[in-house]
Amino acid sequence: MNQGITHGRFITLEGGEGAGKTTALDYLCARLEQAGIRVLRTREPGGTGLGEKVRALLLDPDHTGMHADTELLLMFAARAQHLHEVILPALERGEWVICDRFTDATYAYQGGGRGIDVQRIGLLEDWVQQGMQPDTTLLFDLPVAQGLARAGQRGALDRFEQEQQDFFTRVRDAYLARAAQYPDRFRIVDAGQALEAVQQQLGAIIDGWLEQEQKCSRG
Ligand code: TMP
Repeated sequence: MNQGITHGRFITLEGGEGAGKTTALDYLCARLEQAGIRVLRTREPGGTGLGEKVRALLLDPDHTGMHADTELLLMFAARAQHLHEVILPALERGEWVICDRFTDATYAYQGGGRGIDVQRIGLLEDWVQQGMQPDTTLLFDLPVAQGLARAGQRGALDRFEQEQQDFFTRVRDAYLARAAQYPDRFRIVDAGQALEAVQQQLGAIIDGWLEQEQKCSRG
C-alpha cells in the first residue's frame, strides 16, 4: 500500500479464467507464513459479509440482464466495504494482505471486456481508493483458450465464465496493457506452464520480497 502509513504489504493476484490463481495463492501464503510473515488472504468481489452477498449477485448466471454500469458500481461498492472493513485495518496492523483480484480486474473485465470507458472507472477508483494502490500485482497470464479449457473442467459456469472467447481476449489484452502501463508494480507470471514451473517463478518473486524484508529489518 503506497500511502506510507503502514508496514504491511498489499499484494494482488490477477489473471483471466483458469489461470491457476487459487493454487498459486495456497503456495504464496504458505511460503510467507513459513517465513514468519502474518498474512491475510482475501478476495474480490467479496472478502466481507456484505461483499460476499454482492459477489453472489454479480456471479449469478440468472442475472443475464445486468447492465454494465450496475456491474461496475457493484464491484466498487463491494471494494469500498472490503477496503474499510478488512484491507486497511490489516495493513495498519502490519500484516501482508494477499488479495485474489482487485481494481486491475475492473479495468480488465468492465473496461476491456464490457467496453466501459476507463476514465469512468478511474473516477470510481479515485473516489473509493483515494490514491491507494497495491504494492505488487502478480498477473497470471496464459492463452485464452488454454485458460477456458481449464475453467470449463470446474463444473457449473458463473455469469462471467459464460462469456465468449472474444470477451476473454479483450480481458487478457487489457491486463497486459495495465502491466505495460505500470511496470514497477506488475510482475507477469507465465501461467501457461506446468504447476512446478509456475511455482518456480513464484518462488523467485517471494525470495526477492523476503530479501527486501531482511534488508529493511537490518535497517
Ligand atoms: P474469481 O473467479 O477469480 O473469484 O473472480 C470472480 C469473477 O469476477 C471473475 O470472472 C472476474 C470478475 N471480476 C470483475 O469482472 N471485475 C472485478 O473488479 C473483479 C474483482 C472481479
